[in-house]
Amino acid sequence: MKKSYGYFMPPVTIMGVSCLEDIADYIKPMGFKKALIVSDKVLVEIQLVKKLTDVLDKIEVEYVIFDGAQPNPTVSNVNDGLKMLTDNECDFVISFGGGSPHDCAKGIALVAANGGKIEDYEGLNKSAKPQLPLIAVNTTSGTASQMTRFCIITDESRHVKMAIVDWHTTAVIAVDDADLMVAMPPSLTAATGMDALTHAVEAYVSIIATPVTDCAAIKAIELIASYLRRAVADGQDMEAREMMTYAEYLAGVAFNNASLGYVHAMAHQLGGFYDLPHGVCNAILLPAVEEYNAKVVPERFIDIAKAMGKNIEGLSATEAADAALAAIRELSADIGIPAGLKELKGFDANDIPTLAVNALKDACGLTNPKQASQEEIENIYRAAI
Ligand SMILES: [Fe+2]
Repeated sequence: MKKSYGYFMPPVTIMGVSCLEDIADYIKPMGFKKALIVSDKVLVEIQLVKKLTDVLDKIEVEYVIFDGAQPNPTVSNVNDGLKMLTDNECDFVISFGGGSPHDCAKGIALVAANGGKIEDYEGLNKSAKPQLPLIAVNTTSGTASQMTRFCIITDESRHVKMAIVDWHTTAVIAVDDADLMVAMPPSLTAATGMDALTHAVEAYVSIIATPVTDCAAIKAIELIASYLRRAVADGQDMEAREMMTYAEYLAGVAFNNASLGYVHAMAHQLGGFYDLPHGVCNAILLPAVEEYNAKVVPERFIDIAKAMGKNIEGLSATEAADAALAAIRELSADIGIPAGLKELKGFDANDIPTLAVNALKDACGLTNPKQASQEEIENIYRAAI
């Protein structure tokens, strides 16, 4: 039985609509010379990155932009960004985007400070020193990578997602500005929102959950149940957008400290094998995995059902667990998440045994309420088809 629990957070988080310009007050006194901005081509094209460069121009901090963070960032992306950082003698990194730019930036900053190659840091706390200072500006409401110590990089040669869990990858400043999220299309809002819900639920049933993480997880679930439908239906609904930034952040607080479970362990394999969106894979697997977990810790699902807005009065723990699972499925359906794995491009049920072997190696599964056999993991994948 584990006796102590870490609590990992960025030293500073700036939150609120239009808060991006406030980073000038923090960057200027730090005396940085030149930033490597890590983002993607779309965010550069739609001029969202310009909102950041306008702030840097105003305080006369130099920068170069690396726009090569792909969805599911790869080892090559990290190497390319690292070369740009070295060639331009950058002394800090700013990630701008959703999970992919943040994870790519963490990979770059970690190797820049520690040497070697990103593959050397797969696993838990493998680095010797903190990464180059990272400021993480978030533009989605899902991964919470702007504030976590998790960095997921796809190794193209093995077709697997490497989980790098290292407290040295925590940003020094995280920025959550809902104004930067209105550009998200409904499908991305839905997928990232369900990723946040998965973080909260997996952290709540984790074997290393604490009252601190429980508090964050339950509030996150309440906010997602109340505001995700609205944010998907109308991207300009700023109250819904802002509440989803808080929900995402709270879910991040929960899973950064209580870790995750089999939804992520299994979704990483789908993402790595078929290059599929993380949030969608999670959303499809979530009810199937939690049906398995509800048999082990049904009492945890009473609170989840309540947070999802279900009336649980007079229900047994098992009935409340069923109500929680129904609420998750209803939310998924309402926001247009595909109903099963068969709807995902490239998915082939014949791959399930391989996916299950890899899922059992994923560190995220270690905190699931019950350790599953290969056959059980295969059955969960099949139940989600
Ligand atoms: Fe996630």
